[in-house]
Amino acid sequence: MKPIQVGLLGIGTVGSGVFSVLKRNQEEIKRRAGRGIEIGMVADLDAERAQAIVGPGIRVVRDARDVVANPDIDIVIELIGGYGIARQLVMEAIEQGKHVVTANKALLAVHGTEIFAAAHRKGVMVAFEAAVAGGIPIIKALREGLTANRIEWIAGIINGTTNFILSEMRDKGLDFASALKDAQRLGYAEADPTFDIEGVDAAHKATLMSAIAFGIPVQFDKAYVEGITKLAPQDIKYAEQLGYRIKLFGITKRTAKGIELRVHPALVPSKRLIANVEGAMNAVVVQGDAVGTTLYYGKGAGSEPTASAVIADLVDITRLHTADAAHRVPHLAFQPDQMSSEPVLPMSEVVTSYYLRLRVADQAGVLAKVTGLLAESGISIDAMLQREAGEGEKHTDLILLTHDVREGTMNEVIAAMQALPTVVAPITRIRKEELA
Ligand code: HSE
Repeated sequence: MKPIQVGLLGIGTVGSGVFSVLKRNQEEIKRRAGRGIEIGMVADLDAERAQAIVGPGIRVVRDARDVVANPDIDIVIELIGGYGIARQLVMEAIEQGKHVVTANKALLAVHGTEIFAAAHRKGVMVAFEAAVAGGIPIIKALREGLTANRIEWIAGIINGTTNFILSEMRDKGLDFASALKDAQRLGYAEADPTFDIEGVDAAHKATLMSAIAFGIPVQFDKAYVEGITKLAPQDIKYAEQLGYRIKLFGITKRTAKGIELRVHPALVPSKRLIANVEGAMNAVVVQGDAVGTTLYYGKGAGSEPTASAVIADLVDITRLHTADAAHRVPHLAFQPDQMSSEPVLPMSEVVTSYYLRLRVADQAGVLAKVTGLLAESGISIDAMLQREAGEGEKHTDLILLTHDVREGTMNEVIAAMQALPTVVAPITRIRKEELA
């Protein structure tokens, strides 16, 4: 059978990885797919560089629309990124009846509903393994491997840049700004790292996992997003003294009231495997009712790790593209007419536990007032740490770990604590996840 023809839109880091892995492993991949997979055409604004990468035998164009319009192309790989031109090209490819493979988490998290609906109408596949946690096959695991389960929750370290920064802060005692500079110097963080450090990239990925896990539409606009820019090195140190590490988590959880979907730094017990995921690595824990806890670990970015995920999607499509669309795995794991309207909860309704650091006057009765406010709201204390005030110091740090409480209640109590005259600086609040 003639090889399936692939059009590649964008041949940067990931695109060149796709090209070289496909070339290097072509025989092995063909034996698995049952048919050759060939890059038939490439689009890149820097056509000269692209031609140098792929060699003279492959047609390179500057205008990606030429690839999408080419009737010989069966599958379009979108590696341009962003929501602008990438969205138009993906929609156009679907309209042309082409299958799409994309690593574009931002596009799917924000415009997924429109894109998947169009793909369903046209009977084409939109595959996105590379969009979440790079080389880790977490989409496949959630959509297929765990399909027997009622998924209860997912917690993932799904942004390598921020995990690298947090590791640097912990290992070297650096503040956030210095650790970010290190990440940029070593090429982990982009020149504009906003999406990574503000948690947006992780929230795009968490949104996609949430949809697949619970059969809800992609709803990035409902996600709670908090990054790591305000984390102080002393909180990492205090957390460690209490037996915890601080990680940026993407969390989605099924509760009786609805779905939690949130990205924020959180303390996690140091003894959990995921607490020990360091540097730019990614990891995702999934709790299913039948399987229990499973953990997926690997590289969440980079040329060949991400290419590994893109090519897995190419192989899936190659095997299934002649199958009746109704017999394929649904885009979001659940049949499109079986999606749930369970609400995504506002953050005030999320129930979790907390780390609080209060800068207080070192005098009698301060602790009693603080704990009194917690007790009045029924918030139970899990652990406490008070640093001895240094010589001549009038203020000291008081660290409290709470048991589970509704975030709305916690916010009210923090406001009341902040109003105490003996609390002399803004209170630091970091959520805590036991992941038990
Ligand atoms: N910038 C992301 C990260 C990789 O640092 O993990 C692409 O999503």
